[in-house]
Amino acid sequence: MGMQINLQGKNVLITGAAKGIGRELAITAAENGANVAVHYRESEQEALQTVKEIEKLGVKVSAIQADIGNFEEVREMKDNLDKKFGQIDRIVNNAGWAQLKSFFQYEPEEWKREVDVCFHGVLNLAYTFIPTMKENNNGKFINIVGDSARTGDRNLIVSAAARNGAISFLKSLAKEVGRNNIQCNTISLGMIDQGRLNEELLNKIIKQYPMKRLGGASDVVGAVLFMLSEDADWITGQVLSVNGGHSMIG
Ligand SMILES: NC(=O)c1ccc[n+]([C@@H]2O[C@H](COP(=O)([O-])OP(=O)(O)OC[C@H]3O[C@@H](n4cnc5c(N)ncnc54)[C@H](OP(=O)(O)O)[C@@H]3O)[C@@H](O)[C@H]2O)c1
Repeated sequence: MGMQINLQGKNVLITGAAKGIGRELAITAAENGANVAVHYRESEQEALQTVKEIEKLGVKVSAIQADIGNFEEVREMKDNLDKKFGQIDRIVNNAGWAQLKSFFQYEPEEWKREVDVCFHGVLNLAYTFIPTMKENNNGKFINIVGDSARTGDRNLIVSAAARNGAISFLKSLAKEVGRNNIQCNTISLGMIDQGRLNEELLNKIIKQYPMKRLGGASDVVGAVLFMLSEDADWITGQVLSVNGGHSMIG
């Protein structure tokens, strides 16, 4: 028999869970017993749809809106979630915002938003939610980034830098909160096919992948659910790439 992921009774906040990878993570976490807070920013209808899907699984579920780049909104989100769930035990920060262009195409005021979401968003969530995890002597924080954060990418230059900062932040935080039985890890993704690329571009990109295909949302969930489970209690401060071998970092 294969290993079972048990998230029974754990209250998990997944940011950016209305659609895409976040939606898949929210549904599969619920399938493995977790109660799920489905966070969204603009995609309210899709978030409610995800909630509907999860309700069928018989776990607690609720949609919650916030701009994670705004500290006050994150604090309000925690107050609301505490009322609904008691407390949040685990966070998967899957929300992200990036612009695809070279550095010199930016106007100076344009890079702030990426840093707000991809870097400050992580600090805002950690600062707000980890104190309760410390009180409970139990918690996990998982941040999702792209491999660009590890390798650099000239067309994702600002978000990659912001997320590399988030990787470093979580390593330091892991050292601070390990004594409280809290684990902080990063999952770094290769390109996940969301059906947005034309075939010519797709074939060009696939050549860079040893597995000769892009990932799907279902390729991502196993690693994240494992990191959320008690089987990963001795893994902290790490970065795990789930990327079809696109980059291999020693
Ligand atoms: N898809 C890929 O190939 C790939 C590759 C590497 C890394 N990643 C990363 O994996 C994660 C999921 O990817 P994805 O393609 O499924 O989704 P995505 O469209 O990149 O982003 C997920 C969600 O982030 C939310 N978001 C954006 N700005 C926000 C803010 N200020 N506050 C709160 N939420 C905000 C949006 O929610 P609303 O729609 O509700 O506004 C969006 O739906 C992202 O972090 C992405 O950067 C993806």
